[in-house]
Amino acid sequence: MKIAVIGGGSSYTPELIEGIILRADQVKVDEIVLVDIESGKEKLEIVGALAKRMIQKSGLPIKIELTFDRIKAITNADFVLTQFRVGGLKARANDERIPLKYDVIGQETVGPGGFAKALRTIPVILDICKEIEEYSNDAWLINFTNPAGMVTEAIHKYTSVKAIGLCNVPINMQQMSATILEVDRKDVNISFAGLNHLVYATKVVVNGQDKMATLIDRIIEGRNMNMKNIHDAPWEEDFIKALQVLPCPYHRYYYMMDEMLIEEKEAAELRGTRAEQVQAIERELFEIYKNPTLDVKPKELEERGGALYSEAAISLITSIVTNDHAIHTVNVLNNGAISQLPDDVVVEVSCVVNSEGAKPIQVGKLPPELNGLIQQIKAFEQLTIEAAVTGNKQKALLALVTNPFVPSSKVAKQLLNDLLEANKDYLSKFSMEV
Ligand code: G6P
Repeated sequence: MKIAVIGGGSSYTPELIEGIILRADQVKVDEIVLVDIESGKEKLEIVGALAKRMIQKSGLPIKIELTFDRIKAITNADFVLTQFRVGGLKARANDERIPLKYDVIGQETVGPGGFAKALRTIPVILDICKEIEEYSNDAWLINFTNPAGMVTEAIHKYTSVKAIGLCNVPINMQQMSATILEVDRKDVNISFAGLNHLVYATKVVVNGQDKMATLIDRIIEGRNMNMKNIHDAPWEEDFIKALQVLPCPYHRYYYMMDEMLIEEKEAAELRGTRAEQVQAIERELFEIYKNPTLDVKPKELEERGGALYSEAAISLITSIVTNDHAIHTVNVLNNGAISQLPDDVVVEVSCVVNSEGAKPIQVGKLPPELNGLIQQIKAFEQLTIEAAVTGNKQKALLALVTNPFVPSSKVAKQLLNDLLEANKDYLSKFSMEV
């Protein structure tokens, strides 16, 4: 089995390698090819050397190869994993800072920041998909590249590649629920429904018992349910009780927009935006990775938001390879799962996974308080994808106007101009003035 990792020089790669080593009894991997762009040479070499040491320590007969040749990596691959970031952390920092100028939340995956990231990323993923169609061994594409929901939807809309979008938020919500309820993660069954970074846990069952009310009570009492990269604003008691389901950590940007914006602006001034903080964490991480005696995933990687990402990825691959029909929460075509959404949009829902892929478990009709926000964000996503593929600035403007973070069409237009200007090296489909 050959796995190609696009964005192989990412600081997250040791996480993935660890996952492959831990699951080696279930999934026999022969070859891992880490591919990156030439400007990422140094990172690829450092992380590649660490990956080799980790594999050597494991004693597994897995070959690791490093390359800048994407076609070579994709040729005959059975799985292609995408974890690349077009424009790197510098572009992410722009996505986070530019909206703040207009008192709008700046975040890498949602709002105008996620919009800009989608414009940069979608044309690249579509090129990769053409190569997968032509050169791979009918490979599965497991996409982690953000914004994972929009990127996966674009793949389904414009290519024939077998793709599943993956995020670590659902598995982290399961883990955090387990910690709060003082049980094992595997005993916590959660039904998820929504969109990527907009997913709700609609049911939490432990050993046949509904634990949603207990969980909500404990969260109100102050138990933590968040990710490393998101400001930990506590949920408002009356709201969370009324909602009766668990929002994901990213919902804070929508339900506590005012508070999150104040915090973001303060952080940007005092400590830098998240991307600017991550740049510092990355520099340290790569220094640690360079140590020739290091042959395990270092603990310092936990400072990043990607916790449990390898567990989610490798257990998903295991289900595809072993046809075990396990449940995973992934990004797939809706196909009727959420009845108020079209079939051909991507949703993040609990799915049964086997060798044919991920089949969503029926959700049915969402209550209005969930449906309202989901409809709005899905409309924003559809417009963003269309803008990314066509370079149509009117669609791009409408996408921003549709996003709840953006207060007016005037601000949307200013934001669009600024984002297009800042990203002009990556947006060949757009010309400058709106
Ligand atoms: C979470 C999200 C990921 C995102 C990551 C960012 O884990 O689910 O989609 O990429 O955070 O973490 P970072 O450390 O880069 O801010």
